[in-house]
Amino acid sequence: METKLAVPAEQLVERVRERYGRIAEGAETSCCGPKAATACCGGDGAVSARLGYQAKDLAAVPEGANLGLGCGVPLDFLELQPGEAVLDLGSGPGLDAFLAADRVGPSGRVIGVDMTPAMLERARQNAARGGYANVEFREGRLESLPLGDAVVDAVTSNCVINLVPDKAAVFRQVARVLKPGGRLVVSDIVLDGRLPEALEQDLYAYVGCVSGAVDRGVYFEMLEAAGLGPVEVLKDFDYLAATFDSVPEEVQAILDRTGIRPEDVAGKVRSITYRAYRRSSRTPGPARGAAAPGSAGPAFPAAMR
Ligand SMILES: C[S@@+](CC[C@H](N)C(=O)[O-])C[C@H]1O[C@@H](n2cnc3c(N)ncnc32)[C@H](O)[C@@H]1O
Repeated sequence: METKLAVPAEQLVERVRERYGRIAEGAETSCCGPKAATACCGGDGAVSARLGYQAKDLAAVPEGANLGLGCGVPLDFLELQPGEAVLDLGSGPGLDAFLAADRVGPSGRVIGVDMTPAMLERARQNAARGGYANVEFREGRLESLPLGDAVVDAVTSNCVINLVPDKAAVFRQVARVLKPGGRLVVSDIVLDGRLPEALEQDLYAYVGCVSGAVDRGVYFEMLEAAGLGPVEVLKDFDYLAATFDSVPEEVQAILDRTGIRPEDVAGKVRSITYRAYRRSSRTPGPARGAAAPGSAGPAFPAAMR
């Protein structure tokens, strides 16, 4: 486990599942306190618009598919093509899965994987309401994905991997399910510099996508070790500063609880969006940026089930 919180990994996963379950049920909109929402831990369309989502995209998805839980717009860089098969890691209420479904069209398919039953229920209801025939939501853990080997052209994820204690396992799974040469575009939180210990040990900051984040260099090494690279950073901004602009009371609640001053964390908690490809020493993949092999055929071979 790469995170520093002194709580066993499986307990952390359970706390994350509980918290996002409550958010999915509408019982809670905040990860950090009793007030309104913040980006990764429960927000709304305004938060998403600030991240860069286009108003027309937000208007196109079923109501309730956007809870403002992301920290970037990874689909802006995924360059999805009609007919492709896409996996969304930690799909939540389905926002990115539905936008991806529109881009890959009826001959493509999108699978969202999430471990939180209430999120899955909400996402499936949204899919039914929006009439999305090319999207399915599967219950599962990112550390042991419920998909076969080499079955998807592209993988995306929005503000999720920071929440997983065993990030190296997630990257190994991504490399397993991607076709050779397939691509990954992810928005996530990483650290530039170490956080004050009080923040590292704060459970609310963990479930709120702050203290589960690891050092950028360590994160990229894990990607490379899994056979995913080269890593290209496409966007990079100060996540706490941006969140503070949107919902100052949320960030202030964390700072008050931990006794940390804004200058102690300034610039350290980064939202990045990056791209990488599945490398293969055995099978040469397509040139980077080209469509992955098989993308025009049946999107999901029987082997993946
Ligand atoms: C911050 S929310 C992001 C949801 C979605 N990507 C979005 O932008 O709306 C994190 C989601 O990841 C899921 N999640 C967290 N850890 C997970 C894990 N280890 N395996 C599967 N899902 C996980 C949670 O249940 C939750 O729905």
